[in-house]
Amino acid sequence: MSMGHHHGRETFSSGLAVFFATLGSAVGLGNIWKFPYLTGKFGGGAFLLVYLSCVLLIGLPIMLSEFYIGRRTRRNVVGAFHQLAPGTPWKGIGVMGVSAAYLIMFFYSCVAGWVYYYLFRSLRGDFAAVTPDLLKNEFGAVVTGVWTPVFWQWVVLAVVTAILIMGVKKGIERITKTLMPVLFLLIIACDIRALTLPGAGEGVNFLLHVDFSQLTPAAILTAMGLAFFKLSLGMGTMTTYASYFTPSNNMMATAVKVASADTLVSMLAGLAIFPTVFAFGMEPGAGPGLLFMTIPLVFSQMPFGQQLLIAFFFLTSIAATTAMLSLVEVLIAYFSEEHGVSRQKAAIGNALLIAVVGMLAAWSADPVGPLGQVVFGGRGFFDWFDYLSSNILLPIGGLFIVLFFGYAANQQDIIDQLTNNGTLSLGRSTLPIFFFLARYVTPALLVVIFLNAIGLLKV
Ligand code: TRP
Repeated sequence: MSMGHHHGRETFSSGLAVFFATLGSAVGLGNIWKFPYLTGKFGGGAFLLVYLSCVLLIGLPIMLSEFYIGRRTRRNVVGAFHQLAPGTPWKGIGVMGVSAAYLIMFFYSCVAGWVYYYLFRSLRGDFAAVTPDLLKNEFGAVVTGVWTPVFWQWVVLAVVTAILIMGVKKGIERITKTLMPVLFLLIIACDIRALTLPGAGEGVNFLLHVDFSQLTPAAILTAMGLAFFKLSLGMGTMTTYASYFTPSNNMMATAVKVASADTLVSMLAGLAIFPTVFAFGMEPGAGPGLLFMTIPLVFSQMPFGQQLLIAFFFLTSIAATTAMLSLVEVLIAYFSEEHGVSRQKAAIGNALLIAVVGMLAAWSADPVGPLGQVVFGGRGFFDWFDYLSSNILLPIGGLFIVLFFGYAANQQDIIDQLTNNGTLSLGRSTLPIFFFLARYVTPALLVVIFLNAIGLLKV
């Protein structure tokens, strides 16, 4: 490959920009929509505990692996493996990553569309007086609608495309640096309200009470899938972002900070949602609609409630949007660097493709929806996009990434990269732990959890 590919390649402008952009990728619908509804469905505390172990023992080593691969090569995910291991099948990881980016975007842009729509409606004052039943019907009307969900999905894609066309610094960096702090403030404001609801304690208890009898193999696989999804791992998102990191960035510190801050946001989201669920006698395992059926209740009939509701849907829109920036950036970097397409063309072309195929997700999110009865192997389009990406492609991608890091990559090269050529002492002392995890613990856990869940192994 010619040097031209590196020419004019952007980087983030500071350590703070690296942190907010990367956190912007991690924090998303995963925290505010998926985490609460899965924790609710799989019984609370025990699921949370497995999730936290997955973040530590599987998530962190894979994140570091991706950081290494990305900043070392400063290339898109396919080009990165091409450069580090030319002529080998390792670049299949990159190809799988690009496919996973599409699958995730198909359903993610759909859910983000619901969020934008709820933001619009809360701005219009539609949720001033609501009851649990009313909210259930409202949400049902959205997911079974024909053009409403599709229209908002397209609005989402237009916003994401517009930001990405502005570039890495002027688009991704500027937006995440401005909006991530806002997101933190807003979620804390929402928590204060939720935790002061009468009966909130039961919700907190649900989140923190550990009952191991709930832990089925499916629950464990789901917790692992969630850890991948949450931290944007296993498909080259973090590889692509790391390719824009500054040379002086302490990547181990960044990994730890991003994983902790992301987990904090998930907990804050859980603490906003479960107290409400219990305070209003709702069902914690209500599924994908949980967020939309509970949050408007939190803020109804209180001073400034409607303003807080707007704040909540605004913060969720921020989270979803900054996460999608990173998903689509994988595609843009790939098409512009490997196929010579301009940034603008790549952004628009991919948005159009996602808009078209994404309709399948929008119309199959609910059994009563337009394509709700199109089911194969027990799942419709929406569920297949989600399941195939989170539970299959990301873990398999993650497994190969961590194996590449642990066995195929040049160890001295990794040490140089992660210690910034020996200038970081933190790196030198903690690296052996990460090598150990990456070589033995992470791959073994991934294989066992995976085989167990698809029924080939009974633990
Ligand atoms: N992490 C984001 C969330 O929790 C979603 C996301 C962004 C993602 N990039 C990704 C998920 C890459 C998997 C892979 O909402």
